[in-house]
Amino acid sequence: MVGTAPRNTGTEGVQGGVGVTALLVAAARAIETHRHDSLAQDAYAEHFVRAAPASADWPVRIQQVLDGDTNPLWGRFARYFGLRTGVLDDFLLKAAHAGSVRQIVLLGAGLDSRAYRLDWPPGCVVFEIDRDEVLTFKRTVLDGLSAAPKAARTTVPTDLRADWAGALADAGFDTRAPSVWLAEGLLFYLPAAAETRLIGTVSRLSAEGSALAYEVKLDKDLMEYRDSPLYTSTRHQIGIDLLDLFVHEPRPDSAADLEGLGWSASVHTPFDFTRLHGRGPLPEPNDALAGNRWVFANKTRP
Ligand SMILES: C[S@@+](CC[C@H](N)C(=O)[O-])C[C@H]1O[C@@H](n2cnc3c(N)ncnc32)[C@H](O)[C@@H]1O
Repeated sequence: MVGTAPRNTGTEGVQGGVGVTALLVAAARAIETHRHDSLAQDAYAEHFVRAAPASADWPVRIQQVLDGDTNPLWGRFARYFGLRTGVLDDFLLKAAHAGSVRQIVLLGAGLDSRAYRLDWPPGCVVFEIDRDEVLTFKRTVLDGLSAAPKAARTTVPTDLRADWAGALADAGFDTRAPSVWLAEGLLFYLPAAAETRLIGTVSRLSAEGSALAYEVKLDKDLMEYRDSPLYTSTRHQIGIDLLDLFVHEPRPDSAADLEGLGWSASVHTPFDFTRLHGRGPLPEPNDALAGNRWVFANKTRP
């Protein structure tokens, strides 16, 4: 069983606390990779899952799941992560290939292997921000595979609840050049004030022409869905109580904040993309995904 570490102390690695959620997403990406109608390919994902004692016996193919696609965790929830991965892959690559964006910043990067698996244009640098312990685990696994990144890659071990802008600058980030930012599966683990600070910091560090995508949960009361199949199966099958890891506070309207900071933002449900791609989760009763929104923003004014 996992999930026994303190919920967000800032020191836990992938073995417990919020760090273990990075393994959950990696397992979902592994399953997605091996689907015949895959929405995203991540050949590294199953290596992370196998390397950590917390997840070594989790499935990495849907065929290893007794009830297959009807399993709420490894069926529907994993497909959600697969869809999210594919959509955000497209967003980042579009930003890098369309214009002059050459800096990619992954906030709460976890076991995101985009630096290794996406075809970046020449001259790109990927900054990965997460806790030291998570980044160290990731490096050990990737080194063991002799994996080579497809862009320059810099890790920035820091706590995103604190002031992280200095650490990013020290790592070589250039505020004069446009950038693309991603906060995938991160903001609901941060206090509301830290989210507002983070969005403000991203904006301050972003030159005109920059882009940002992030995920939020807009539920008024997260506990409303405590008995939903996604939460209960995640708790029962792998011992992760997501509701215990999320911060239960009224969330800020970060998309509105961005509009006031010179960005134009559009807010989507994941189901919009399910319909677009013809596969992925659709709404269901007592749905833990009901409040999830994916926000895409572009900085259009200085
Ligand atoms: C659900 S995982 C998502 C990882 C990655 N973005 C992905 O989608 O694969 C959440 C990640 O956020 C990181 N995280 C949570 N709170 C953090 C904090 N205060 N500072 C830095 N990283 C944090 C965790 O360590 C974990 O790797």
